[in-house]
Amino acid sequence: MTTTKHLELTGVDIDFPTPNGPFKALSNVNLKIDRGEFVSLIGHSGCGKSTVLNIVAGLYQATKGGVLLDGKEVNEPGPERAVVFQNHSLLPWLTAYENVELAVKQVFKKTKTKAEMKEWIEYNLQLVHMDHAMHKRPDEISGGMKQRVGIARALAMEPTVMLMDEPFGALDALTRAHLQDSLMEIQADLNNTVIMITHDVDEAVLLSDRIVMMTNGPAATVGEILEVKLPRPRHRLELADDPQYNHYRAAVLSFLYEKQRTPGEAPTKPTKQHTSTDSTTTDSPEATTPTTKTSSTDEQAA
Ligand SMILES: Nc1ncnc2c1ncn2[C@@H]1O[C@H](COP(=O)(O)OP(=O)(O)OP(=O)(O)O)[C@@H](O)[C@H]1O
Ligand SMILES: [Mg+2]
Repeated sequence: MTTTKHLELTGVDIDFPTPNGPFKALSNVNLKIDRGEFVSLIGHSGCGKSTVLNIVAGLYQATKGGVLLDGKEVNEPGPERAVVFQNHSLLPWLTAYENVELAVKQVFKKTKTKAEMKEWIEYNLQLVHMDHAMHKRPDEISGGMKQRVGIARALAMEPTVMLMDEPFGALDALTRAHLQDSLMEIQADLNNTVIMITHDVDEAVLLSDRIVMMTNGPAATVGEILEVKLPRPRHRLELADDPQYNHYRAAVLSFLYEKQRTPGEAPTKPTKQHTSTDSTTTDSPEATTPTTKTSSTDEQAA
């Protein structure tokens, strides 16, 4: 590994003030990411994944340590770091089109004409299959649709860094698979850096160059990092029976369910089949029960 990295988190701690005193959510988080790398963050609910993303986004300030992007300290949000939020955050008084337009104007006002911007906005909404509803407001569309608009908005900014907080969590299996494939293609084209939070082990293995597995909080930190050396382009159907793919999958599951079992979680019943390749999500007890093998598009249980 080289010494100068594109994106560096160094010794990041964060203490949130609470009525009972400071709550240390993260402790000594260190992560170095190359330009164009696709990194997934995975860990149990509440461990601090969104907090890490918010610090990189410049929305939260680390209490100790900090973030450097191409050598510059990150202290505030910027258009080169687009965020897809966990709770799709669209402006409620604007239509889907206008929500994307706002971001596109911010980035391309000087470089694209009005007609080019319109075409670009429509193109990105088409990409997430939202062209039929682009003139509806957020209260007129479903949660999954709002999430898709949020993804279109982020993609349309062509950011250097895409920060995605469970971007596909609220989507049906087919749309999710389609958007995962689109994201892989777009990322291959633009070579932008992606940090994506996911609860879906298959999604993490399919998309990532590295999977960063976080320990349970409080004072959560990076537990293990798994390098996924599957060649690209990757095809979900071909990978389903790939031993290397299944090896990566098992490694993540082992971290989550053996090494970082959630406190209070019921122990695994010894009578139940519990093979390491059978569970896919990190956020529900049902996730540890066997599922069918088409699990990269399993419905999120939550
Ligand atoms: N603004 C805040 N004030 C106080 N505590 C906070 C704040 N934001 C997060 N926390 C706490 O920090 C911890 C990490 O929260 P975070 O939202 O980062 O978890 P997460 O890993 O994203 O969880 P999930 O998978 O459920 O989205 C939690 O204990 C949470 O309660
Ligand atoms: Mg979160």
